[in-house]
Amino acid sequence: CGIVGVLGRVEVAPRIVDSLKRLEYRGYDSAGVATLVDGQLVRRRAEGKLRNLESVLENAPLAGSAGIGHTRWATHGAPTVTNAHPHLAGSVAVVHNGIIENYLDLRDEVSAAGAVLDTETDTEVVAHLINLAMAAGKSPRDAVADVLPRLKGAFALALLFAGEDDLLIGARKGSPLAIGHGEGEMFLGSDAIALSPFTDRITYLEEGDWAVLTRSSVDIFDRDNTQVARPEAKSSVTSSLMDKGNYKHFMAKEIHEQPEVLGHTLSRYFDYTSNQASVEGADALNFKDLNRLIITACGTAYLAGLVSKYWFEKYARLPVEIDIASEFRYRETPVCDKDAALFISQSGETADTLASLRYCKEHGATIGAIVNVPESTIAREADRVFPTIAGPEIGVASTKAFTCQLAVLAALALQAGRERGVLSEAREKELVAELTEVPSLALKALAAETDIEKLSQPLSKAQNALYLGRATNFPLALEGALKLKELSYIHAEGYAAGELKHGPIALIDENMPVFVIAPYDAIYEKTVSNMQEVAARGGRIVLITDERGAAECGNAAENTVVLPNMTDIVAPIIYALPVQMIAYHTAVFMGTDVDQPRNLAKSVTVE
Ligand code: G6P
Repeated sequence: CGIVGVLGRVEVAPRIVDSLKRLEYRGYDSAGVATLVDGQLVRRRAEGKLRNLESVLENAPLAGSAGIGHTRWATHGAPTVTNAHPHLAGSVAVVHNGIIENYLDLRDEVSAAGAVLDTETDTEVVAHLINLAMAAGKSPRDAVADVLPRLKGAFALALLFAGEDDLLIGARKGSPLAIGHGEGEMFLGSDAIALSPFTDRITYLEEGDWAVLTRSSVDIFDRDNTQVARPEAKSSVTSSLMDKGNYKHFMAKEIHEQPEVLGHTLSRYFDYTSNQASVEGADALNFKDLNRLIITACGTAYLAGLVSKYWFEKYARLPVEIDIASEFRYRETPVCDKDAALFISQSGETADTLASLRYCKEHGATIGAIVNVPESTIAREADRVFPTIAGPEIGVASTKAFTCQLAVLAALALQAGRERGVLSEAREKELVAELTEVPSLALKALAAETDIEKLSQPLSKAQNALYLGRATNFPLALEGALKLKELSYIHAEGYAAGELKHGPIALIDENMPVFVIAPYDAIYEKTVSNMQEVAARGGRIVLITDERGAAECGNAAENTVVLPNMTDIVAPIIYALPVQMIAYHTAVFMGTDVDQPRNLAKSVTVE
């Protein structure tokens, strides 16, 4: 969810909506705003996308120069109007990002005290607890100080109080929250992007902090209620809302930006004069003496990590332990100060990835982060940050951030290989020269779009699909299936091609599209054999290969997507593009919401 709070000089509802537009990447199940009108709390809420809230506000505008707003990714309670934030109880309104884990106990407690709960959310109870404390005579500030330690779980809160036109209280535990300093105005928001229309003067709250804001003052307290000073920083986040240019969707634009942003990212991490990987800050990871590298991430970012496992092991003989963050964080994995850990995240805010980072940090590991948002929490908490230069990614399904993550990881793997004495100077030069071709190869891969569009139309009628690949194309098969699921809602599975015979082959019949990712490499023949096994059982094959692979594959495939010939190290970066385009065009034919698929959020700040 995304939250925002404004103590302004003029009407705030339109400004809150403007800010929420920048937070929609955190969820778009419902949205709401509450303001103070003549000292009374008034709210407007709507189910679904923010534009629904905008129409509610057009029909029934909201006055008031103090307010809070919310865009929701539902956790507890269906995305209905009743469950939409802000939640009210007496003289308190609250917006919340995160989960209050002990809400059931707290609901019983406030109900016993006479509170009537209207919603199925975990949030409403916060408003009631504070309201009850105030009804017992506490000031808003003291009531909040009393209630915060009683809330278990992760949360960011913004609170507005009836009769208090110059007061906003915010709290942060586990979910990010920032304060924006204006001229005679003060702001709260989930991140600097939310605050960008208002100010570039930002103070980030730290874990356990809470803050009392007026238009002219900010008092910040830590978890022990001791007043603390937190620095003010200048944010470089631009306030302009991204536009789609000539594209129908952000996703299409972002797919097509890849030749350019890959060029930017590669040139940051490779020195083209010496043809060497040159990653600033990599020394801290101490590749030379490392026993293993831990890599943790979620979703598509995890799959970038999985590709790099093959690279680190092959080019640097560095064992990699990789896991999805929601598993890693609770596995009680032994981690020590001789380890280095890499966390990959487009947003830099994903709750599970952040928790895994903190676990590794506590156990003494050196922390590297590959993020696309340099001001994010993960970036701020890492020892070293390796930014992807992908530019803002708006489409919920990650595309250009993924390939840029691969570019950074390739550089780190080659650097590790050199530092560990595994990769000769000559071989590194060769590999770097190959990687310099990535932007032009990506451009050529985009030329396959017309063919992909054609083959996607019949695919949009399928109910299931399989994706197969070996080695670095195995994570890509997983990515292909993930993209199909999230964009077109077609059930899809990604499998290591060699594993097909151990189960999924039972699924194959004449209705099952099977995508086979098989560049003409050392294991091409093996993958093509698996493809033959599918053909023998009547499966409908789409082969994604290169010119040499297309010439050698026989006639088992119903459709073939042909890319230019390329070497091993660049293949997973380039083959990501057809995989993305297949999901994109299938979704367009199906008429789903490509940029904001149902039930998803771009940045998931709850576990
Ligand atoms: C969400 C998004 C995915 C993304 C994942 C991890 O599920 O829909 O596209 O890969 O989160 O996000 P991160 O910001 O950590 O890369």
